[in-house]
Amino acid sequence: MEKNITIIKGDGIGPEIVDEAIKVLQAIAKKYNHTFTYTEVLMGGASIDAHGVPITQETIDIAKSSDSVLLGSIGGDTNTSPWYQLEPKLRPEAGLLTIRKELGLFANLRPAYLYNELKEACPLKPEIIEGGFDMMVVRELTGGIYFGARETKEIDGQLVATDSLAYSETEIKRIVKKAFEIAMKRKKQLISVDKANVLDSSRLWRKIVNELASDYPEVTVEHMLVDNCAMQLVRDPKQFDVIVTENMFGDILSDEASMITGSIGMLSSASLRDDSFGMYEPSHGSAPDIAGTNKANPIATILSMALMLRYSFGLSKEALEVEQAIEKVLQQGYRTVDILSKDKTLVGTKEMGDLIVANL
Ligand code: IPM
Ligand code: MG
Repeated sequence: MEKNITIIKGDGIGPEIVDEAIKVLQAIAKKYNHTFTYTEVLMGGASIDAHGVPITQETIDIAKSSDSVLLGSIGGDTNTSPWYQLEPKLRPEAGLLTIRKELGLFANLRPAYLYNELKEACPLKPEIIEGGFDMMVVRELTGGIYFGARETKEIDGQLVATDSLAYSETEIKRIVKKAFEIAMKRKKQLISVDKANVLDSSRLWRKIVNELASDYPEVTVEHMLVDNCAMQLVRDPKQFDVIVTENMFGDILSDEASMITGSIGMLSSASLRDDSFGMYEPSHGSAPDIAGTNKANPIATILSMALMLRYSFGLSKEALEVEQAIEKVLQQGYRTVDILSKDKTLVGTKEMGDLIVANL
């Protein structure tokens, strides 16, 4: 198989972790006789430094004409980095929002599960996580308050800021349908999260979930208010299989879900649309404080690359092989510093990549 992959290393630890993912991908290519070519483009802070803007049309065009995108992480320290002195639409994050929208990546899949080998890192009490948990947050990614009209203007002598949250039926239907399809491949339990006791957009969301439910009679559907969901995630994470929710609720809940696994350095994500194209990136951020120190955990990026093999290229066997190699390395006791516990062997970013390759 021949595929062209757009590589966006990004900022902070991005370049280091993407290099390890490419290392593993090349090992897979060699073993299975695939040819992957890479086109590296800039986005986020790196693009600001080079071109004065967080994303250029060239980056968008290259990404659009490739088979998928592998992204490291973007952004810097919001307190100290000069990028955050710029107006909001010129900051690193604007590049990420633009590429999501331009590529039409409306479905963001963020798995959160407890690794057996990493149970000690989980911040929840042992009795709560007994038997583990495994959920998938399906976050709407190209609509809602992230993309609604916003302005700050002076009214009666004081500044008033407005952000609007709008969803069309089409936007809700396509993400909810995606979530039902994912639920069908898992435990067939869908929890739709909204704030229907307050928001009109949530009431429309709920109505559409109920309408689509009849197309998936095998899936159990429940509605949950977002504040309750935030609480239930720490009270009893086992109850969740698939969560579907709008953009900002998904942003917040997916961070919470990743934190309770105790291993945010291990969690992948995929941003998809209706065809096979996707953008794959770790769930964690750019960790500028440890950039360039060979301390970052590359596993989330390598797992994201495995999702690319599975979802965009249909290479399930290769994807599974990568996932199993990671399991083996963990069983052998190797850990990067973020997941280190007693009696385990500390390794750096590069060594972790090498160990995963060695276990393929
Ligand atoms: C994420 C991030 C982004 C988001 C930021 C960096 C704009 O938090 O991918 O979850 O809010 O979507
Ligand atoms: Mg976020």
